[in-house]
Amino acid sequence: METQKSIPSLILFLLLLFTNSFALQIPKVHTREPCRRLVYYFHDIIYNGQNSKNATAAIVGAPAWANKTILAGQNHFGDLVVFDDPITLDNNLHSAPIGRAQGFYIYDKKDVFTAWLGFSFVFNSTDLKGSLNFAGADPLMNKTRDVSVIGGTGDFLMARGVATLMTDAFEGEVYFRLRVDVKLGMTNNI
Ligand SMILES: *[C@@H]1O[C@H](CO)[C@@H](O)[C@H](O)[C@H]1NC(C)=O
Ligand SMILES: *[C@@H]1O[C@H](CO)[C@@H](O)[C@H](O)[C@H]1NC(C)=O
Ligand SMILES: *[C@@H]1O[C@H](CO)[C@@H](O)[C@H](O)[C@H]1NC(C)=O
Ligand SMILES: *[C@@H]1O[C@H](CO)[C@@H](O)[C@H](O)[C@H]1NC(C)=O
Repeated sequence: METQKSIPSLILFLLLLFTNSFALQIPKVHTREPCRRLVYYFHDIIYNGQNSKNATAAIVGAPAWANKTILAGQNHFGDLVVFDDPITLDNNLHSAPIGRAQGFYIYDKKDVFTAWLGFSFVFNSTDLKGSLNFAGADPLMNKTRDVSVIGGTGDFLMARGVATLMTDAFEGEVYFRLRVDVKLGMTNNI
């Protein structure tokens, strides 16, 4: 008689046990923290008709109504600029570069300053060898903009993540400096 009575409570106990263990299996909502975070600066000196010696960027394509000496009107719409910029660890243009930012940007909207960026960080320092590849829209009037880290080589093999860009300084249409906060999600090899 006693054992018969305890069966339902045993079932109840097991039920509770299982419900509990199921509850424990519900994945916790957690914010994704990057595995590795790196901050770099790069410096873009745009050719303006007079600075060919120092320029690190050149307009290589312009709309029919503009030219390749001066950035076009209407928020530079249609200009394609190629760059080979020094990367530094701080915001000083004259600091020893640890590599080059190489790629292009296209101004792609008439009514607001915005560009599309495709470039690589090619590292060449005793600490870092390899490259990181970036791509994405750059609505450059926004204080911060995110572009994708779409891959890497060498020390950055299989890299994936996001880079937050911030215009750290600009001087007219000749110089700008971007702060790049790289947040990588992969741990491979790094
Ligand atoms: C080029 O760079 C040198 C060294 O930073 C600087 O002294 C010179 O004024 C620059 N020239 C131009 C045209 O910007
Ligand atoms: C390029 O265009 C600007 C105005 O947008 C003009 O002042 C300049 O003379 C032009 N340069 C050449 C080489 O055509
Ligand atoms: C990398 O740095 C070394 C040493 O400074 C230099 O000799 C070499 O030319 C550089 N390579 C590239 C691709 O910049
Ligand atoms: C850029 O800023 C504008 C206005 O503040 C905002 O509406 C827009 O969503 C921002 N774009 C991005 C990509 O953050």
